[in-house]
Amino acid sequence: MHRIIVLTIVAIVSFASCSKEKEKEVSHQEMAVHGMASDWKFTLPQGDPGEGRKTFVEVECYKCHEVEGQKFPTVTEGDKGVGPELSQMAGMHPPEFFAESIINPNAVIDPDAKKLGYVGEDGKSKIPDYNSVLTVKQVADLASYIASPKGLKPNEHTGH
Ligand code: HEC
Repeated sequence: MHRIIVLTIVAIVSFASCSKEKEKEVSHQEMAVHGMASDWKFTLPQGDPGEGRKTFVEVECYKCHEVEGQKFPTVTEGDKGVGPELSQMAGMHPPEFFAESIINPNAVIDPDAKKLGYVGEDGKSKIPDYNSVLTVKQVADLASYIASPKGLKPNEHTGH
């Protein structure tokens, strides 16, 4: 008797997952029908690294991030926050990667984040939520500033 119940459950579960699989296939087909190429990828509008640097100063990203070779307003010990130095990442990722760090910082968490003090007790990134503060243009500018080695030349864009 038990066997029959177990078998029935197994059958139902596998049927259910099977039909889920089918749903997925249909939606992929639908995407193709609607003209979405399989290699589609999200792209940001072109950003301006100089404007990005200005925003970096305005919204005080420098309180947690150093950028090698760049001078920012002095941060007092009490105001200083924890965050990775950003110039080593320049050129290693497309601007979209950096934009994600800003608008969805919990999407990718460094495996050493806890050890490095990058996450709080709740395991969430300490990078503040900027989504109601920054415009899309500011995000694109910030991302291009961080992604572009040119934008990182020492004090090239001082914002004056
Ligand atoms: C209160 C401190 C703090 C402030 C302010 C802050 N960040 Fe961060 N940021 C962090 C921490 C901690 C991490 C690492 C954890 C993570 O990736 O979310 C991080 C990660 C990042 C990364 C990913 C770097 C990597 O190595 O993957 C980028 C890019 C970044 N921040 C940009 C910014 C920008 C741009 C601003 C200003 C709009 C900003 N941050 C403001 C703390 C901060």
